Amino acid sequence: MASPKDYTVEYPFSKRHCLTISDFHRMDIEALLALGDYYQGLQNQRITSAPILRGKTVVNLFFENSTRTEKSFEVAAKRLGADVISMNVGASSVKKGETLLDTAATLNAMRPDILVVRHGSSGAPALLSQKVSCAVINAGDGMHEHPTQALLDALTLRTTFGGDIGGLRIAICGDILHSRVARSNVQLLNILGCDVRLIGPPTLLPIDADCWGVDVFHDMETGLKGCDVVMMLRLQMERMSGAFVPTKREYFHFYGLDKNKLAFAKKGAKVMHPGPMNRGVEISSQIADDPNISLITQQVETGVAMRMGILHALSDNNKSEKSESENTISEYNNARHYETAGRLKPSNTLGEA
Ligand code: NCD
Repeated sequence: MASPKDYTVEYPFSKRHCLTISDFHRMDIEALLALGDYYQGLQNQRITSAPILRGKTVVNLFFENSTRTEKSFEVAAKRLGADVISMNVGASSVKKGETLLDTAATLNAMRPDILVVRHGSSGAPALLSQKVSCAVINAGDGMHEHPTQALLDALTLRTTFGGDIGGLRIAICGDILHSRVARSNVQLLNILGCDVRLIGPPTLLPIDADCWGVDVFHDMETGLKGCDVVMMLRLQMERMSGAFVPTKREYFHFYGLDKNKLAFAKKGAKVMHPGPMNRGVEISSQIADDPNISLITQQVETGVAMRMGILHALSDNNKSEKSESENTISEYNNARHYETAGRLKPSNTLGEA
């Protein structure tokens, strides 16, 4: 098996942070996926320790609840030998009124090597990346992006379909409007040459969805036709400021994935979901628990390997600070745009994390 060094030589990774898929060129993505694939290979051989981050510190800073993403980063960093500090924000000074930027300055003084940030406001990780001297990974910001989820989804698909996934027809279904997973996945899957579709009720699709380089459908029967993969999204009630669907029961009737609706897709189509799932709302247990159909457990397993690859890539580089900080200012502005483009009022301000 080739070593990670071989991969980084073949596909040099040139970025200092992992904030948004739009920062990446195809080569960056190939570099990250190749590293993820390398760590997946080690995982398959039951090799769970590759201490390439020994002596380095990874700080997990999660301002929103998370089970799988936070734990996935923690396991990944520990398997790479890093010291991992998971900040329980509920118990930190943030609850006592400290701002996001004060927290950043405090953490920065502890000299972490990598900061993994999840925040309810779009653009928060990009803003932090300008204030700290370490690499920053966006683990989900508001309705904006979730780049590591998109990367692990792509790696899961490559593993399942045996390499190149260009040309696969992939439907992303449900609550697209509030989904950072959808925004990152659409960009990444388009870069990898997939034929991407969005399916959802008009109330749960962003008004500019037809400019995303995808085909948009409002009913599952037409939308799922010929699909190799069906990616279901959670109905994100916590982000809704009004009635976006009549009832959960009616939503399941029209958009919940069960065996009848899956029959509209290609025979043998695979189903994905980033979790956490609302069974009986966007997906039936019959689908979620069928190992011949569902890739959901593989997504979690591949997530650890992919995050090992991302941590490795970011620990490896010494990029120019200046050009990166210029990039992140425009990235912050772009990210804030999602708060209004999605027809939602801006969430809590960054100064009041
Ligand atoms: C997603 C998220 O937080 O955006 N979940 C995850 O990271 N595993 C999707 C969701 O919450 O529905």
